[in-house]
Amino acid sequence: MTKEIILGITGASGTPIATALLAQLLASGCKVHLVFTTAGIITFKEEMKYSLSANPTLCKQILIDKLQLNNCDNLHIYTNNDWFSPIASGSSAPDAMVICPCSMATLGKVANGIGDDLLTRAADVILKERKNLVVVPRETPFSAIHLDNMLTLAKLGVSVLPPVVAFYTQPQSVNDIILFIVSRILDQLRVNNQLFTRWGEKLLKENGNE
Ligand SMILES: Cc1cc2nc3c(=O)[nH]c(=O)nc-3n(C[C@H](O)[C@H](O)[C@H](O)COP(=O)(O)O)c2cc1C
Repeated sequence: MTKEIILGITGASGTPIATALLAQLLASGCKVHLVFTTAGIITFKEEMKYSLSANPTLCKQILIDKLQLNNCDNLHIYTNNDWFSPIASGSSAPDAMVICPCSMATLGKVANGIGDDLLTRAADVILKERKNLVVVPRETPFSAIHLDNMLTLAKLGVSVLPPVVAFYTQPQSVNDIILFIVSRILDQLRVNNQLFTRWGEKLLKENGNE
């Protein structure tokens, strides 16, 4: 069965992680419901150096061209006030949602049940339907308010996964770092992936056990 995942992209820094995640989800055969906040579109331009469109059809074409995406029939993009999209209702809630990157503003809204746009409404639906929510909060340092909001979500079973670098994987490039974080997100979404050599795997290979 095709896995359906909502990807929410907000106005926090981290667009290259979000785009790599989108490409991997589609490459894995997932159906992706994508929604940007207004600030997400602004931050996207700052970090990627090209503009998206507020029009979902044009936005999809830009993403396909720039990111050379595959399996694009599985990509559905909505404006952030599209209350008629399937992700706005619990009656058709997909398996999982990831907010990547997640701004502190959106984190605060989701932790407090404020669903005043499609992205936060979709997250609220995922929570009430007890589905899998993953947030990738990006800020540094965190204030006590941010940490409180993360604790609230963690207590609800949300996976709180800040995009933290690991050096035990010996990253050689920014792309290595991005793929490591994307891999950890995919793990939380239960999407199989082999984006980096996992702990213990190298030893197994060296010993001829794989
Ligand atoms: C280039 C840029 C980078 C930003 N980075 C962050 C960030 O890392 N974390 C954050 O919480 N807000 C960040 N902001 C501020 C948010 O975009 C702002 O708080 C906005 O209201 C978030 O709205 P949203 O949650 O609806 O996307 C950034 C803004 C810009 C323009």
